[in-house]
Amino acid sequence: MQQSENQPAAIEIALWQYSKNEHDWNRWEQSLSQAERDRAATYRFEGDRASFIAGRYLLRRLLSLSIGTVPGKVVLSPDKYGRLRLEGRDTPQFSLANTDGLVTVAVASGCDHVGIDCERIGVEIEEAAVASYCSADERRWLAELPARERAQAAVALWTLKESHLKALGVGLREDPRNLAFSWKDGIPVMVDGGDRDRQWHHRLVDSGSQHVVALAACCQSGLPGISTRIFQDDSMPSE
Ligand SMILES: CC(C)(COP(=O)(O)OP(=O)(O)OC[C@H]1O[C@@H](n2cnc3c(N)ncnc32)[C@H](O)[C@@H]1OP(=O)(O)O)[C@@H](O)C(=O)NCCC(=O)NCCS
Repeated sequence: MQQSENQPAAIEIALWQYSKNEHDWNRWEQSLSQAERDRAATYRFEGDRASFIAGRYLLRRLLSLSIGTVPGKVVLSPDKYGRLRLEGRDTPQFSLANTDGLVTVAVASGCDHVGIDCERIGVEIEEAAVASYCSADERRWLAELPARERAQAAVALWTLKESHLKALGVGLREDPRNLAFSWKDGIPVMVDGGDRDRQWHHRLVDSGSQHVVALAACCQSGLPGISTRIFQDDSMPSE
């Protein structure tokens, strides 16, 4: 039995434009596991380190509320493809993404799979890169758009595909050209992909910032209720 059959699906998305203050990073790091701190220490660029720490801190904060423990006691381990799992539990489903200046986490109940991705608006995607992840129909559609819209649509397609592949847990091991999206009444719809018979829902989320955020969820019980909030770190102010 799919786990989502008996309960209404709900997804909570938290968006966080985290602080650039190193005192804060050090404080957040205290709730990370030793393995996470070791990984944080391996980042060559401090921006990447901060982004990793902020992502895991936000994830721990949200999961701790969901499962009723403190952030430092949430036990996370990656599967063989890098997707994080909660030790000893199948629920809630969750996904994490980070990009320059923003981390976002989706926590889902009543869904079988959830994936989230984010990218900064205005990021340059070269023609060759578009060809490496878009289907022929998507490339034709993009080519017909005015240049400014095209750049944004190309980022939207990328985030939609990545969120779907993260929901499946395969990431970029799967060729993103095997998935194709179109728009119906302003909502992205997967028009080509391996398992379209399942109940997939895709959304572009209003980030309130210069970022495109895409959500993919597979929920047998129908359209999930989706709530989005801007996370505020209320633990302690920066020095
Ligand atoms: C999953 C993947 C698409 C993430 O891409 P990204 O742009 O680097 O990172 P994002 O900010 O979107 O997401 C990062 C989070 O995705 C999650 N993640 C990693 N692998 C994942 C997978 N296979 N499925 C779902 N989620 C995954 C992790 O929680 C990660 O957070 P962490 O860095 O704190 O561990 C990419 O890492 C991938 O394809 N991995 C699997 C295949 C692989 O290893 N390929 C080598 C490079 S192509």
